[in-house]
Amino acid sequence: MAGELTGKHWWLVGLVFLVAATAGVGVGVPLALKGDPNQAFEQRLETARKILSEAPLIDGHNDLPWNIRSFIHNQLEKINLNESLKTVEPWSVSNWSHTDIPRLHEGKVGGQFWVAYTPCDSQYLNSVQLTLEQIDLIKRILVKYKQYMELVTKSEDIMKVFRTGKIASLIGIEGGHGISNSLGALRMMYELGVRYLTLTHTCHTPWATASPADEPGSGLEHVGLNEFGKKVVLEMNRLGMMVDLSHVSTQTMRDALATSKAPVIFSHSSARHLCNNARNVPDDILRQVRINRGIVMVSFFADHIACGQEANVSHVAAHINHVRDIAGIDHVGIGADFDGINKTPQGLEDVSKYPALLAELLRDPKWNVRDLRKLAGENIIRVFGEVEKVRDDLQGKMTPIEEDLHPEYLKGKTNCTYIFD
Ligand SMILES: *[C@@H]1O[C@H](CO)[C@@H](O)[C@H](O)[C@H]1NC(C)=O
Ligand SMILES: *[C@@H]1O[C@H](CO)[C@@H](O)[C@H](O)[C@H]1NC(C)=O
Ligand SMILES: *[C@@H]1O[C@H](CO)[C@@H](O)[C@H](O)[C@H]1NC(C)=O
Ligand SMILES: *[C@@H]1O[C@H](CO)[C@@H](O)[C@H](O)[C@H]1NC(C)=O
Repeated sequence: MAGELTGKHWWLVGLVFLVAATAGVGVGVPLALKGDPNQAFEQRLETARKILSEAPLIDGHNDLPWNIRSFIHNQLEKINLNESLKTVEPWSVSNWSHTDIPRLHEGKVGGQFWVAYTPCDSQYLNSVQLTLEQIDLIKRILVKYKQYMELVTKSEDIMKVFRTGKIASLIGIEGGHGISNSLGALRMMYELGVRYLTLTHTCHTPWATASPADEPGSGLEHVGLNEFGKKVVLEMNRLGMMVDLSHVSTQTMRDALATSKAPVIFSHSSARHLCNNARNVPDDILRQVRINRGIVMVSFFADHIACGQEANVSHVAAHINHVRDIAGIDHVGIGADFDGINKTPQGLEDVSKYPALLAELLRDPKWNVRDLRKLAGENIIRVFGEVEKVRDDLQGKMTPIEEDLHPEYLKGKTNCTYIFD
């Protein structure tokens, strides 16, 4: 009979199965498996954990490096990330501490953007030095805990590192003041492994306005990127560094989207439609992110997802669903902002809880396993890969941008700057 399996063929099937199992494909949670409102939480959690064993959960924004600065002055001998910090002061008594290696493992974290953040107060002072020190700190963490984490600077290496069981670790700079109006500094940050720059933190730079510009009466509602700011975006495109629009003003979002030749990211922002906060992304920008092929990685900060009310995992799911509805399933991700927030949702208290978020989404038949894999990490890997493709396409067509910020923008702010004639 045609197609019937003889004993010999069974042997072949066994071999194929073995090869597939070794390669880690074809034996996982079926991609078409859908959410089911009648399933118990424990069962959904189990499915979520299985999904995250096969596809990485890559979070867009974690501020552990900043807490290591502010609590222990970057002295790594004073912390053991191998053990739970839940019982170790000062971490245990701080509402800002949510991360250690045991909890990263419990949370099935497969990739993490570690953030080199420096306060806005360092702008026009030593912000570049402080940024370098945070990059140094991240690299020292990755060396000290190399059994568990590995630096990644190429999109194709994320899955390679994930398959070894280590956390694929990427570096982002939060705040354009970290490059201090210098494209030379930007280029050197790229060489150090930085793969995204958040154009602003809470302060405007001389070339980009931050979210406070959206507040009524700021007088800056229609000011976004100036000419130099557009050059920063284009130079990032040329380098292959992702443009992060979390924290920027709506006009800066618009200008960056109009300027960038590559997909943009929001490393930790939620939906303004559900909580009218300037840190969140309005619907018209979500529609543009879809066209731009970018991504919005939803944050967990209670103030941003529940507008100051008590938040829980359902609020985060609602923001994810809204971004999905407007921008599309290929343009949504997760950027909790752990260690950078002090009010976390009930059920998502620290990095050990990501599977609970997927379990919540698995109540909804709209979500299948393929969708959850995209949300968890496949979308950001795709975006990063497209940013690299734009970089490759620009090779030979664009040379390093050599213009300086016009001195007009620095009037009264150069006390701590050597000025060339
Ligand atoms: C962390 O724990 C592992 C396993 O116990 C050990 O091999 C490793 O040396 C530890 N690393 C640090 C930095 O303490
Ligand atoms: C930490 O958060 C809890 C719950 O919101 C609050 O009651 C407490 O005062 C906070 N602790 C500090 C030190 O701010
Ligand atoms: C979250 O809180 C809302 C009320 O604000 C409630 O309706 C919902 O059931 C809660 N979700 C979970 C998972 O507890
Ligand atoms: C810069 O120097 C001037 C004059 O010495 C001083 O008045 C001003 O406060 C200084 N500005 C800053 C930001 O330090």
